[in-house]
Amino acid sequence: MTQKKPIIAANWKMHKTGREVEEFFNTLMPQLNDVKVQVWIAPSATIISLAAQKTQGSIICIGAQNIYHESHGAFTGEISAAQARDAGARFVIVGHSERRRLFGETNAQVKKKIELAREQQLIPLLCVGETLEERERGQIKSVLKAQLTEVLDERFEGVVAYEPVWAIGTGKSASREMIEEGHAICREILTQVCKKENQISLLYGGSVSAEIASSLGTIKDVDGALVGSASLEAQTFISIIRGYLQ
Ligand code: PGA
Repeated sequence: MTQKKPIIAANWKMHKTGREVEEFFNTLMPQLNDVKVQVWIAPSATIISLAAQKTQGSIICIGAQNIYHESHGAFTGEISAAQARDAGARFVIVGHSERRRLFGETNAQVKKKIELAREQQLIPLLCVGETLEERERGQIKSVLKAQLTEVLDERFEGVVAYEPVWAIGTGKSASREMIEEGHAICREILTQVCKKENQISLLYGGSVSAEIASSLGTIKDVDGALVGSASLEAQTFISIIRGYLQ
């Protein structure tokens, strides 16, 4: 375990309307008074400002799930780093495997997004992880190395999430040994590349549940969790936060 204050981050993906956001925070917020973690939530762009208003003055930090890799212009349907910031986002997820796989997001684009996020004082939350085929071919280290070294430089300040692609949304979380291995590789590369490496939190993501969260907090080099489907229901999410702190 490290000395950093753990981050439990939620990626809501394409879920929730305004009414559901209100209900979620009405249930979650009264239960957060005594928790000693940072709670980060990334709602859809349409509800960032509502979520930011609703959580103002609380320990919750609202972020965006994505930004475009250009600062502004004729890019119908996209949102810029400045717009995300203006709506109330304080961090942004970049390089999520769903963006890479479904929308063709490249390392070059991820690098630009990190740069634009920095300019707008948005904290980048960079996701990396290997597919099942890459794992079976013994390529975990080379994949993580490429995903990190091609986008980061010594100035990087932000958060990294190790999310094995095969563990996302499948209910098959990585084992303790796999998480240790992935985090050790990421940490080694961060140490080589980034000046402020010791300030970079390293989260685990991929089918995190309350049960898994309770062991995550005891794994070396794990500074928190990135939670997808289990973050959608407030009561389940709070049990993950409490589980992590056990
Ligand atoms: P999951 O998603 O918890 O539903 O596996 C994690 C993620 O996509 O970040």
